[in-house]
Amino acid sequence: MEERGLSILTEEVTALGTRFVVRSEGREVAQLLLYWFHGAKGHDRPYAELKDVWVDESFRSRGIAGRLLDDALAKVKELNCYKFTATSRDNGTRDEVHAWYRQRGFKDHGIEFRMNF
Ligand SMILES: CC(C)(COP(=O)(O)OP(=O)(O)OC[C@H]1O[C@@H](n2cnc3c(N)ncnc32)[C@H](O)[C@@H]1OP(=O)(O)O)[C@@H](O)C(=O)NCCC(=O)NCCS
Repeated sequence: MEERGLSILTEEVTALGTRFVVRSEGREVAQLLLYWFHGAKGHDRPYAELKDVWVDESFRSRGIAGRLLDDALAKVKELNCYKFTATSRDNGTRDEVHAWYRQRGFKDHGIEFRMNF
């Protein structure tokens, strides 16, 4: 962009992350991805985002996702993050999943935008 003396420069930043994995008899049965980011304007502290929590159907309702979230939360606190976000589709069929997030302390906040490719 070269307009009225404005120019866009780029600086590399790297998101760091941890994949929490649960295995049973050598098979992966659950995971949670946690990423954290530095560089938010006005914040010295990082923020964290939960991505892709998944539990194999035959292992659901045993508290496994809850345990993964506890571990992720411990990491978020260790990192001294100022916020921790999670997103979920809102297509009218996800009430139980959304209840799961709310029960565990997440508050409704904003809306999500997306491009599909
Ligand atoms: C959401 C998910 C990770 C929960 O895993 P889990 O290990 O069963 O979760 P927990 O045992 O900690 O908690 C279970 C509770 O969460 C709620 N819940 C969450 N997702 C649910 C679902 N799809 N169906 C029914 N209840 C669900 C219920 O209150 C449930 O309690 P119950 O077992 O007494 O009915 C799992 O259902 C899953 O992998 N779903 C598919 C992927 C997905 O939707 N991920 C979330 C992306 S936003």
